[in-house]
Amino acid sequence: MTGIEAFVRGLPKTDLHMHIEGSIEPELMLELAARNGVTLRWDTPEALRGAYRFENLQSFLDLYFEGCKVLVTERDFRDVTRAYLRRAHEDGVVRAELFIGPQSFTERGIPIEALMSGVLAAMEDARGAHGMSVGLMISVHRHRTEPDAFAVLNQVMPWKDDIIGIGMGGAEVGNPPSKFARFFRAARERGFRTAVHAGEEGPASYVREALDLLHVDRIDHGNACLADPDLVRELAIRRVPLTVCPLSNLRLKVVPSLEEHPLKAMMAHGLHVTVNSDDPPYFGGYVTENLLACREALGLSRDAIVRLVRNGLEAAFVTEEERQALLLRLDAYVRMPVDG
Ligand code: HPA
Ligand code: ZN
Repeated sequence: MTGIEAFVRGLPKTDLHMHIEGSIEPELMLELAARNGVTLRWDTPEALRGAYRFENLQSFLDLYFEGCKVLVTERDFRDVTRAYLRRAHEDGVVRAELFIGPQSFTERGIPIEALMSGVLAAMEDARGAHGMSVGLMISVHRHRTEPDAFAVLNQVMPWKDDIIGIGMGGAEVGNPPSKFARFFRAARERGFRTAVHAGEEGPASYVREALDLLHVDRIDHGNACLADPDLVRELAIRRVPLTVCPLSNLRLKVVPSLEEHPLKAMMAHGLHVTVNSDDPPYFGGYVTENLLACREALGLSRDAIVRLVRNGLEAAFVTEEERQALLLRLDAYVRMPVDG
């Protein structure tokens, strides 16, 4: 490992945009399929990994939803969440905010209790075993209806105190934030933080809608905002965090190459950008790999990488007391002498 790799891996980082269903490594996917008698189209991890070639967001979502079928029991949800958190801890992540989208499971008759109990148990284990700070975000599918989203909100209310926020993912184009204005008002009224995917494949106007109509706390991705200078200025002035996922953008052909990724331009515009993993096995990397790949492709300086990590800590849905403690930890790490 080079000096810079060790430095980036050791940075106390956040992962604020990741999907539990998108974090199942191929080996575990096959193990869960066998355990639950689910037939997959691939029978080796290599074959499965070979299928991770996408033309766009929809081609990824097709595989992602197919992969969801291996998660059936409470134990499955616990195992997959535990595996991600262990890996994230080894990657230097000190604060992880995890999305899960219950609709993929409840539509198959899986009780919400199995999902919530399994995920929450693994989160509690990680707090104890790794000293990690972990939060859960419930995500709804934008390609389904607003009443469907309300049904999810009502189902998870018994766990209200265990959930930090509500998000939205799925097929973006044709499903603008405006479709969910009442839903996100209700989520905010019930005390949840909010973040929606916007401006990944969709236009800048979807980012604008997420801000003005949904009043979200964060934007997931947000790349397309650059097409609207007024929007960029407003996002920068209001310091609205954007949870950017560079390797995801590369693999879903949101950008033609990492060299052409707008991350550096977003930083130059004063946007509050953070770097995140999204769906790590599908896109080829956890947060460290994302940062290192961007460093290589965009020539990010050590200070720029530290800035991105600091932005993550500043954007996390934690108490101010916890944020200050995490920022002090980052400052102490950055001051340590580097070798190599
Ligand atoms: N976009 C939309 N929906 C998703 C994503 C994404 O990047 N990852 C998992 N669900
Ligand atoms: Zn995502």
